[in-house]
Amino acid sequence: MALEPTRDDKFSFGLWTVGYNGSDPFGGPTRPHLDVVEAVEKLAEVGAYGLTFHDDDLFAFGSTDAERQTEIDRLKQALSDTGLIVPMVTTNLFSAPVFKDGGFTSNDRSVRRYAMRKAMRQLDLGAELGAKTFVMWGGREGAEYDTAKDVRGALERYREAVNMFAQYVTDKGYDMRFAIEPKPNEPRGDILLPTLGHAIAFIETLERPEMFGVNPETGHEQMAGLNFTAGIAQALYQGKLFHIDLNGQRGIKYDQDLVFGHGDLANAFSLVDLLENGGPNGGQSYDGPRHFDYKPSRTEDFTGVWDSARANIRMYLLLKERAAAFRADPEVQEALANARVAELNEPTLNAGESYDDLLADRSAFEDFDTDAYFGGKGFGFVRLNQLAMEHLMGAR
Ligand code: GCO
Ligand code: MN
Ligand code: MN
Repeated sequence: MALEPTRDDKFSFGLWTVGYNGSDPFGGPTRPHLDVVEAVEKLAEVGAYGLTFHDDDLFAFGSTDAERQTEIDRLKQALSDTGLIVPMVTTNLFSAPVFKDGGFTSNDRSVRRYAMRKAMRQLDLGAELGAKTFVMWGGREGAEYDTAKDVRGALERYREAVNMFAQYVTDKGYDMRFAIEPKPNEPRGDILLPTLGHAIAFIETLERPEMFGVNPETGHEQMAGLNFTAGIAQALYQGKLFHIDLNGQRGIKYDQDLVFGHGDLANAFSLVDLLENGGPNGGQSYDGPRHFDYKPSRTEDFTGVWDSARANIRMYLLLKERAAAFRADPEVQEALANARVAELNEPTLNAGESYDDLLADRSAFEDFDTDAYFGGKGFGFVRLNQLAMEHLMGAR
């Protein structure tokens, strides 16, 4: 299998990822500013098909209309020179001081109105550039103190904002859907819609739920101690995987945004297997962008930035190759059958069977040999997982 990326692989990167200058709460930048034209050219070179960005990544917060337009024109020129596309855009409602208590859910009503306008401006720009997805990561939509935030009020204001955006996009005829990105904490002590499950439940309360899905990020679920692959499976099950942020995270700690696969590698393997081989007939279960939302570590210079961008792509392609080998191995197929993995897709009741029929079935209860499960009838899950790990390690 090819380890050289093609545009059909749909690898995309945020401008804020390769453009991260290394500043953190304990130190300033370790790298100079990365110009958007150079970012687009280099991303085309490493094999990406798309660039995504926040408004403020492209033109600094507070830019004049003319300054903003200059950067948009430069981006458009770079896109047309390289053939890269903009599959997704998003808006920054977390960096500027005005958003210190959030955007759509700030306690300050005038900040909320300003945030709505800023997002609408980016919706227009996204539509102009052909973006099909608008990501909403509510980094500052949260609180440090329970007494300071009325969470029910915040949810109601968030609904108000996103319902209005759906109306706006519909009225404008934009071909765009929304993807909410959950995160448990950081920068706020607690963030609204902290996990995939919270976000999916919230979406069902919206006026146009079909226009809303999720943009789950590997590290964000793992920061909450959750299994990313399992969360993605539920998002797929509910038809809500509109976009995905791939990266790496090593356990429950601050948001590391490592290269994809440089965190929990076993979980990255099962994720790629799910995305590539978990479809109804064994094919892809998700055909959207494979978007890397990582940060090149602040130890790196620009050589390291582009090496790390390539590393994301290579990790994905290696995992895709390993997952295909896993699926094709006859011993794995035998272990899967032995572990009865496919049997879970068989309905528990027979076709047309009622509860009366179940109650009448003595083999289901009265005559069922539960004792056989003591010291017998093992599922062989460990053997199956060992085969997966051996494929992951290239040992088979
Ligand atoms: C994070 C987030 C952000 C968002 C991005 C989109 O690492 O905390 O992933 O990077 O994805 O800002 O708004
Ligand atoms: Mn992150
Ligand atoms: Mn993200």
